[in-house]
Amino acid sequence: MTDIRDILRFYADAGADEALLDQPVNRFVEAESAPRRMSAPEEAMRPDGNSAPPPARNAPAAPPPRATQPTAAVPDEAQAARARELARQAGSLEELREILDGFDGCNLKFTAKQTVFADGDPEADVMFVGEAPGRDEDIAGLPFVGRSGQLLDRMLSAIGLDRTGAYIANVIAWRPPGNRTPTPLETEICRPFIERQIELANPKVLVTLGGPSAKVLLHATEGVLRLRGNWKTHTTAAGTVIPAMPTLHPAYLLRNPAHKKLAWRDFLEIKAKLIEIRG
Ligand code: URA
Repeated sequence: MTDIRDILRFYADAGADEALLDQPVNRFVEAESAPRRMSAPEEAMRPDGNSAPPPARNAPAAPPPRATQPTAAVPDEAQAARARELARQAGSLEELREILDGFDGCNLKFTAKQTVFADGDPEADVMFVGEAPGRDEDIAGLPFVGRSGQLLDRMLSAIGLDRTGAYIANVIAWRPPGNRTPTPLETEICRPFIERQIELANPKVLVTLGGPSAKVLLHATEGVLRLRGNWKTHTTAAGTVIPAMPTLHPAYLLRNPAHKKLAWRDFLEIKAKLIEIRG
């Protein structure tokens, strides 16, 4: 007989880690003719704009939208342009955090609990950038606090660093629902914010964690296994060139522990670069 724990484990593994309603809903007694209302993320993915289609003739009136649920914005080019403009306006990291908190142009924001901006010391010589927050980060409001964050902490400590000596952020500041991969447009909307964050933090060394971060920040086209371990550069909008090391994502290393030796080599490179830079 299937244990209820097996079913819950199955759901958790599939990424369904939240109950959406306080009360259970018996779908079998719902009127079959009632049109299905789109969830906020589904509405957000509509290709044609912000509004749902007009109700069919004679269809029951749609329930009023829940007051507490903001309408999700559609990720489109206009939002990417707005993000670029807003990010440019930020004169400090604090201003950038406030702008991100108030930005409603990325639908990921409406399913996330909060904005995950950064952890560590923004004055640090080295900045690490991952892909997007997961469940633990969404709850804590800080990047890399879950299992992969704990591995990152151990990797930092192996080269004599901790979060007081590093600045840590993500390309995307909101947890994608169920940890799904962010869409290219969502990434494009978030790109100006992380680029400005790097520019304002102005680290001496940038480390991209995983393929998506390298793709966005280093314009990399190869796979991360080929890319990692080779110094690249990230150029800010103002033209500052920052040495950048692409390395493997800690979550990948948790799944592929045999590749930790590759990340170890990359971290030794980072350590050597920091020693060289500090003179
Ligand atoms: N993975 C990431 O890329 N970032 C986090 O903050 C956590 C997990």
